[in-house]
Amino acid sequence: MVKKVTVNTIQKYKDNQEKFSVLTAYDYSTAKYVDEAGIDIILIGDSLAMVALGYETTHCVGVEEMEIFTRAVAKGCSHAMVVTDMPFLSYHTDITSAVSNCGRMIKVGANAVKIEGFSGYILEVIRRLTETGIPVMGHLGFTPQFLNTLGGYKIQGKTPEAAEEILKQAKALEEAGVFSIVLEMIPQESAKYITENLIVPTISCGAGKYCDAQVLVSDDVFGKFSDFKPKFARKYGDMKSLILNCAKQFNDDVKSGKFPSEEEIF
Ligand code: KIV
Repeated sequence: MVKKVTVNTIQKYKDNQEKFSVLTAYDYSTAKYVDEAGIDIILIGDSLAMVALGYETTHCVGVEEMEIFTRAVAKGCSHAMVVTDMPFLSYHTDITSAVSNCGRMIKVGANAVKIEGFSGYILEVIRRLTETGIPVMGHLGFTPQFLNTLGGYKIQGKTPEAAEEILKQAKALEEAGVFSIVLEMIPQESAKYITENLIVPTISCGAGKYCDAQVLVSDDVFGKFSDFKPKFARKYGDMKSLILNCAKQFNDDVKSGKFPSEEEIF
């Protein structure tokens, strides 16, 4: 029997100073292989807006779409904890719709949700979600849903004062009940300081090696998405070439009559 990763497993990792891994996945078969590889948390990131749906920014994806992708990914996971990234405007207007939208993800198989940012309202959302039985992953530093107010893809927490401010926000999220916090695009030393002063684990997304975990977008890791590559992403494969080669060979075989063969017909 496969052991499922839970919020307790995640906290134990931090307590025992063991690193854990987080990768995004958006479809059933990818989730199945990522799960089989032993990744601890599979995130249905709202990055799917760009990577899987071809949108400009994460703002364009909605609750219905996230629900479909969550259902597919959850079906492929037996070991990894499944976390759905709540899309823009799905938890921002009022607490009732926030709980209801997050609950929809749990109903289709997510084990937790991720929400971005920090404010008195966000803290209340976190409290209400955890009271409802929905674990919450926080997200601080560069938060893509705030792209327009942050004024672009900018590194956050660069000065000691800015790092102190992020730590203050992280502690408030922790007190409100988050089980982990993504730190995105923060200098390594600032992320180290924040990580060392928190009880819950931090997950680095371009925040260096001292966080308790690392997250990347799977399409960057597999070398599938090629529109842009963040500086902090590492490419472990070349799926783009693989897909191109397979599709080209199929195209050639169909046109030259080599496909189908005698073994491929009834
Ligand atoms: O949307 C996403 O994929 C994310 C992670 C990379 C943290 O938020």
